[in-house]
Amino acid sequence: MTQDEASLEARLEEQEAFDPPESFVEQANVTDPGIYEEFEENWPDCWERAADLLSWEESYDTVLDDSNEPFYEWFTGGELNASYNCLDRHVADGASDRTAIKWEGEPGETRTYTYGDLLAEVEAFAATLRDLGVEEDDVVTLYMPMIPELPIAMLACARIGAPHSVVFAGFSADALATRMNSADSEYLVTCDGYYRRGDALDHLSKANEGLEGVDHEVSDVVVVDRLGDELEHSLSENQRDYDELVAENEGASVEPVARDAEDMLFLMYTSGTTGKPKGVKHTTGGYLAYAAWTSHSVLDLKPEDTYWCAADIGWITGHSYIVYGPLALGTSTVMYEGTPDYPDKDRLWEIVEREEVDVFYTAPTAIRAFMKWGEKYPEQHDLSSLRLLGTVGEPINPRAWKWYYKHIGGEECPIVDTWWQTETGGMMITTLPGINTMKPGTAGPPLPGIGAQVVDAEGAEVGAGQAGYVTVNKPWPGMLRTLYNNDERFISEYWEEYSDEGADEWVYFPEDGAKIDDDGYITILGRVDDVINVSGHRLGTMEIESAVVGVEGIAEAAVVGGDHEVKGEAVYVYAIPEDGYDGDADLEERAVQGILDSIGPIAKPEEVIFTPELPKTRSGKIMRRLLEDIASGNELGNTSTLRNPDVVDDIADQVDSS
Ligand code: WTA
Repeated sequence: MTQDEASLEARLEEQEAFDPPESFVEQANVTDPGIYEEFEENWPDCWERAADLLSWEESYDTVLDDSNEPFYEWFTGGELNASYNCLDRHVADGASDRTAIKWEGEPGETRTYTYGDLLAEVEAFAATLRDLGVEEDDVVTLYMPMIPELPIAMLACARIGAPHSVVFAGFSADALATRMNSADSEYLVTCDGYYRRGDALDHLSKANEGLEGVDHEVSDVVVVDRLGDELEHSLSENQRDYDELVAENEGASVEPVARDAEDMLFLMYTSGTTGKPKGVKHTTGGYLAYAAWTSHSVLDLKPEDTYWCAADIGWITGHSYIVYGPLALGTSTVMYEGTPDYPDKDRLWEIVEREEVDVFYTAPTAIRAFMKWGEKYPEQHDLSSLRLLGTVGEPINPRAWKWYYKHIGGEECPIVDTWWQTETGGMMITTLPGINTMKPGTAGPPLPGIGAQVVDAEGAEVGAGQAGYVTVNKPWPGMLRTLYNNDERFISEYWEEYSDEGADEWVYFPEDGAKIDDDGYITILGRVDDVINVSGHRLGTMEIESAVVGVEGIAEAAVVGGDHEVKGEAVYVYAIPEDGYDGDADLEERAVQGILDSIGPIAKPEEVIFTPELPKTRSGKIMRRLLEDIASGNELGNTSTLRNPDVVDDIADQVDSS
């Protein structure tokens, strides 16, 4: 390092606030700081600005209908089609030859779909779905990895008004069955397999196993042939080859079905406090308008951009910011099948350079991995096409923020640290990149029109610097409308905690801890429920626990998150063997397998610790906080109030020695 570089490094380390570069501001979509006041004064009509980014088949009568709180409705009376908004209207505007999706497979092959191509593919698959008997409002499950047929199938569903339910390909067979059962979904689109670090993975066997657990009749299953000869597979009687079906419908024209603004666009299952995943319902009008608006104002997307969100479509980030937001705006969106370190650790930067990516969005866990690998990988590539960077999914520590800012953004790109959730549909708390100063580690102020605040246990706003909880006291268009078939749980999970008795005012509770500073910037501290965040993936500890206690020989278990350098949090399992069983390698292996079978490799524990007892309070509650501290290697506080204080040292010794 030269002296200049060293002093630059030192300055960067100390700097606490960063202003967006002039060159960025000059071209940004949103630059007037008056937007905050304007949205405040004009609320809820301000949201027409979001709706105006879409083409409506029938204009709406009312922006917000709050006659049945908290079952808010947005843009009521309006009709539109999401696939029309993502495809047809761009083609009609002369953008038929513009790239819609640029896909890259892990082995290196690429496919480019222009808006014209994508529309044709979507129409052919929409016709196929109809041939299979899919009708409006039928839920179609899509259990697919990052291959182009996934967004094609999503848009084909949207075109005919059939809500999709995408199940992350890394989830297990059981997880697929649970979700299909919960959604009464009779249709499945899946694939034979995909590539991971050079290996061809069998996906179809997992899908087949999942289907065995479905408690109702499933119609023909569509199977995409991703791997060709690489992996032999045979289709059973009710399984149909995607390419053959689509070939029969080549050139088909399928009119987009006009959907009511409040009609369901998709379901997305996510983890919550209890063992059962929640089916979050998103709508056609409000969700799409919100995804488009945040893509425009926060990601600063323009039709001529090449934009890359390096997430998986199996999570909400991919729904809103790989598929719906960017395509609604007519942008070119990049999709990559594989891992960032295959064949080497510069894979992502090679893609950024080759595709001349303008805007890049990823998770802090990925940034921490890049940091660990070292700057020599990004340095091998010309990343000067980048204009804006984003992060999502978990808190980003200032050191990782600054590394991203310097080594990926070349100190010329603003970074948006965007806080949101599956339930919020889109970004809620973040700086606007053309307006606000950025503070590393702090997401920023709530977006214009978003009533986010930090409160204490009673709901009173906390002072600057104090820790509290995030709440949202005004509805917004992208919000979930309910939990599928479970209005009661919708209220109890999100609204009961902070809404008044008899509720004059309904307050949404995201279950995140936070603090706020003098400028109104919010720093997210993490979940306050039994959800942990492993590599930006949300996992319910109760779900993992029930998988572990389902294993023969295990009497009781507690699952917590412990700090992890790259993953943010990692899964720790504490388990009590049943009488007659030893906490040995065999039991450990079966416990791990139980988790893999019921959830998938993302929930694989860092450690399984067998113990004859779990630390409990005198009233018999497991002391999870203590188990978290042990897993994280933190100083342990006072344990004398426990019923069984001795057990703590025994457990801590085991974790230390491993
Ligand atoms: C966490 C992902 C800090 C948070 C879009 C939230 C974040 C959960 C951030 C939702 C951020 C998301 N800073 N924490 N910028 N973004 N989170 O539903 O705890 O998979 O409640 O949605 O991720 O996870 P989900």
